[in-house]
Amino acid sequence: MGMAGDGSVLVFILLILASAALTPPTDELSDGVTREQGKKKKEHPPPLFHPDTPSNVSTQLGAHAYLPCRIKSLGDKSVVWIRNRDSHILTVDRYTFISDERFTAWHEADTQTWTLQVRYVQERDEGSYECQVSTEPKMSHFVYLNVVSPSVTIVGESDLYVKSGSTVSLRCVIANALQQPAFIFWYHGEERVVGRTDRVVFLERKSADTSVSTLTIPSLTLTDSGNYTCAPASLRIASVTIHVLSGEHPAAMQRGSAALPSHGLLLALATSLLWLLEGAT
Ligand SMILES: *[C@@H]1O[C@H](CO)[C@@H](O)[C@H](O)[C@H]1NC(C)=O
Ligand SMILES: *[C@@H]1O[C@H](CO)[C@@H](O)[C@H](O)[C@H]1NC(C)=O
Repeated sequence: MGMAGDGSVLVFILLILASAALTPPTDELSDGVTREQGKKKKEHPPPLFHPDTPSNVSTQLGAHAYLPCRIKSLGDKSVVWIRNRDSHILTVDRYTFISDERFTAWHEADTQTWTLQVRYVQERDEGSYECQVSTEPKMSHFVYLNVVSPSVTIVGESDLYVKSGSTVSLRCVIANALQQPAFIFWYHGEERVVGRTDRVVFLERKSADTSVSTLTIPSLTLTDSGNYTCAPASLRIASVTIHVLSGEHPAAMQRGSAALPSHGLLLALATSLLWLLEGAT
């Protein structure tokens, strides 16, 4: 595995060198200056990993991960990012060598940093990544990507038995989050719960790492039976089943005033908006 990996690194580096020789003149303008300076100064100091290069990065499931590799005096050496799980070469300098387009690398000249970006992080992305510099012998710095999965739960039993006519509130708690999900949707069966004035979704941010979305369904009827799912953006889902019991009570008569739920909906929309704005900062 290791041998094959090293062999392909070489091949890729040769490819890069070949493509560098073929770059159009516009690129040469900026590149050429440093290359000529490099030629004049024969004694280029050897590359060195910056001592404050992090070795452990935590990213929430579904978010983008940034794995930095800070290198002093890189000179004309290449920077290769390798996934340790399968020794797959992800990037060589600015080029991506994996069909998974979530992986990209870029260079920030100011901070001498080569950053590997992993977009929409999945659980299987967790693990060690190697930042390798093409010196002889090769230099490596390892960064561990820790994928944080917030818990998503609906408070209470997974099966609720309720009398028709009564009101039910489902509370979906998203805890241990590094960042709040961009949105939380509720589904009844396959259908998204939206725009119905009698159903209220209320979103609260309980603390820095916990938020709660509450779905209130007033005056339950038989058609409200079924599977309810809380689906926060990019995270796991949680479901409960509501069983509406009819017959025992001549219920469904005590409907609340029409004004209250629609007022509640406006409030919920306003709260969601506030919450989104807060989340954006
Ligand atoms: C990385 O950091 C996280 C949280 O700080 C910790 O739980 C985890 O054990 C660390 N992993 C490694 C490999 O150091
Ligand atoms: C409810 O719906 C969700 C989402 O479609 C599904 O994952 C879950 O298995 C369903 N639960 C039941 C009890 O049918």
